[in-house]
Amino acid sequence: MTTTLVTNIATLVTNDPAAGEGPLGLVQDAAVVMDGDTVAWAGPAAHAPAADTAYDAAGRAVVPGFVDSHSHLVFAGDRTAEFNARMSGRAYSAGGIRTTVAATRAATDAELEANLTRYLDEALRQGTTTFETKSGYGLTVEDEARALRIAARHTDEVTYLGAHVVSPDYADDPAAYVALVTGEMLDACAPYARWVDVFCEKGAFDGDQARAVLTAGKAKGLTPRVHANQLSYGPGVRLAVELDAASADHCTHLTPDDVDALASGNTVATLLPGAEFSTRAEWPDARRLLDAGVTVALSTDCNPGSSFTSSMAFCIALAVRDMGMTPDEALWSATAGGAAALRRTDIGRIAPGARADLALLDAPSHVHLAYRPGVPLVSAVWRRGVQVV
Ligand code: NIG
Ligand code: FE
Repeated sequence: MTTTLVTNIATLVTNDPAAGEGPLGLVQDAAVVMDGDTVAWAGPAAHAPAADTAYDAAGRAVVPGFVDSHSHLVFAGDRTAEFNARMSGRAYSAGGIRTTVAATRAATDAELEANLTRYLDEALRQGTTTFETKSGYGLTVEDEARALRIAARHTDEVTYLGAHVVSPDYADDPAAYVALVTGEMLDACAPYARWVDVFCEKGAFDGDQARAVLTAGKAKGLTPRVHANQLSYGPGVRLAVELDAASADHCTHLTPDDVDALASGNTVATLLPGAEFSTRAEWPDARRLLDAGVTVALSTDCNPGSSFTSSMAFCIALAVRDMGMTPDEALWSATAGGAAALRRTDIGRIAPGARADLALLDAPSHVHLAYRPGVPLVSAVWRRGVQVV
């Protein structure tokens, strides 16, 4: 196995409190040694062990590769017209999902996969080394299963979201659609997925329907995650905690009881500021969640409707500017927080034994991700120890 030394790092974010300062485990004048696909050593450059090859970080910052724990990347078409209308004053509604469903059903497998890899490459260039993605734009047994089959070729973090909205084919009989999602569609999809998700929202699925979807998925070995409390108050967050979901995603409209539930359980609150940005909605209150002791993740929600960004750095900047997070908290949530939302300990940190996923920033510290919004600061990326950017 070849070892590689990345040295002359001005600021290293390890997310390993034992290795450095604060929750980010910050080390100044640092180095990292990778052994094959794994981190072998991280610490002060002066103490770095020898390695086969060396890379000079030239006084810049290194952070763990971003963990994007929530995206919807198996789709076709785009919704420019809907975005344009929204920016002229129209409100966002979940109804736009059906536009993408029609385009996705009409696309070939090759078209869907080419679209997926295009956005994955785009995300990788911006430092995302792990991503989760979902079905939800097929809404038939065949179309949901093929979305997951295609996604599973590119990531282990695949989520079955047959319950995105009621299929237009079942507009008159939502109960029959829930029966399909919890029956034949689940049987066809479960082999490709690790997670089951439901959009628990007015106009999508209510609390009872969401519970049916999540418990059926659990019985098939899938772990729940929930689109919860995005557009309005509702039962999604409490249901997620009750069913020990890995994450409750969006969390924009929270009562004190919702916050207490998140603080008392194992469910991560995944905040998706790209959605509030692109729908001109009110921001989730990250400060309130952090002060209550909730684990917070940040993700893109990349999808053609409500949040068409693949940039974790953009989400960090929004979270710092508009959601009350410090730059340190936002960086943690976009890396270690995302790993927690995926119940992973091998990613989101740069520590011995972790996967060698690193992003080099063209900046002296991670704070520049928020301080220099919109600037493409990621200048090199290693994924599983291989330099891919
Ligand atoms: O997470 N909320 C539901 N699903 C997506 C939106 C999907 C769409 O508009 O196409 C979301 O924001
Ligand atoms: Fe989403």
